[in-house]
Amino acid sequence: MSPAPDPTLFDKVVNLCKRRGFVFPSAEIYGGFRSTYDYGPVGVLLLRNVKEEWWRSMVQLRHDVVGLDAAILSPPAIWEASGHLQNFTDPLVDCRNCRERYRLDKLDDPNECPNCHAKGSFTEARHFNLMFKTYAGPVEGTGAEVYLRPETAQGMFVNFKNVLETSRKRPPFGIAQIGKSFRNEITPGNFVFRTREFEQMEMEYFVPPDEAEKWYQYWCDERLRWYVELGIPEDQLRLRAHDEEELSHYSSATSDVEFLFPWGWDELEGIANRTDYDLRQHAQASGESLDYFDPTLGERYVPYVIEPAAGATRTAMAFLMAAYDEEEVAREGQGQGESRTVLRFNHRIAPYKVAVLPLSKKPELQEPANEVLGLLQPHYMCDYDETQAIGRRYRRQDELGTPYCVTIDFETLDDRAVTVRDRDSMAQDRVPIDALLDHLEPKLS
Ligand code: GAP
Repeated sequence: MSPAPDPTLFDKVVNLCKRRGFVFPSAEIYGGFRSTYDYGPVGVLLLRNVKEEWWRSMVQLRHDVVGLDAAILSPPAIWEASGHLQNFTDPLVDCRNCRERYRLDKLDDPNECPNCHAKGSFTEARHFNLMFKTYAGPVEGTGAEVYLRPETAQGMFVNFKNVLETSRKRPPFGIAQIGKSFRNEITPGNFVFRTREFEQMEMEYFVPPDEAEKWYQYWCDERLRWYVELGIPEDQLRLRAHDEEELSHYSSATSDVEFLFPWGWDELEGIANRTDYDLRQHAQASGESLDYFDPTLGERYVPYVIEPAAGATRTAMAFLMAAYDEEEVAREGQGQGESRTVLRFNHRIAPYKVAVLPLSKKPELQEPANEVLGLLQPHYMCDYDETQAIGRRYRRQDELGTPYCVTIDFETLDDRAVTVRDRDSMAQDRVPIDALLDHLEPKLS
């Protein structure tokens, strides 16, 4: 059984994100800009680690997937062919009483306004297209219209032929991409869960049509495993298959990887069988043939596509929620009790791997502290902090999720050894500087 979600967790994590430099509200000095966020010094590291781990498992460790970085600005022809101009809409309703706007499909009761509780006050639903439109060049008007991509996927379909011809890959093979996408969401919210500007990590896996079902199952299992391997407890994750009426216009089957957020189960990633819909649509609209001739079978076919599509920003939020912990501990060095907040990130996800902490700012400790920092920095992302009592500095590193703190003290001047403190157990080991890399390597690899 899954644990009940903790409703207080949301505010705790949002506060910690601001306090420790993970995520700031965007344009805050101008009063903020609704539903946009900036990733601070620690958040940018967390987000990079999430993307790096995805890339490692989807591209680096495979022989059958190659990468791509396609343009964000794209001509209407792409979105006409993909069906987004026609279908990428949400049903928008306005409350005639209080003027609040809602997505009809997200309302608990479609007859009652959640803001003013008026009944039957909603307008007829309008189909609101979520794509951001802008103009390329100095003249606004038809002919200059371009769209910010609402998904990274189409960049991979329109480059299918280029990649096939240059990469020497053949189905089954995939194209992977990480990048920003933009959607004019009617109801952004829940912190970075649903925003208008966000990052996606998507892979289009091109397969012979009769192997589509097999690969769909394969990618559902693989993607669920990825989250578990990186430390999200299994009982906070599930795979949920879409009902027929939930399916996107291009999909014959979709399953979501869902995480138990403080407000309940919600989507982290969708794995879809997009059939040959996209390649056929682009082939027809562009006049380019996007099929594949299999020389061993002597057959020509349009590949089916299995697509694992995840959100990097949303996944970073799930890692934060899953890592958050509070516990009562003895105050380090003093024996009295206190509570501590600790982010128990998997080491690969943790923003900093090591913090280097000279016990005092006295000049004689600077030299060994710099030596230790110089030793570690080529291998690990390190934080360096020399102010405040050491106990408070440990608490700060706990809240950043730093797996190891290395303390340089006055004994270091005599024995050339440092104290290595473990985030989770708070155990401390005395380790010679010359053996420090060997000591940390098996723990952090
Ligand atoms: N190419 C398929 C596609 O884009 P999607 O389910 O609409 O599918 C994939 O998006 C993932 O992108 C979602 O599972 C989610 O993690 C992320 N995502 C989508 N809209 C988002 C938003 N407004 N804010 C943050 N992440 C979003």
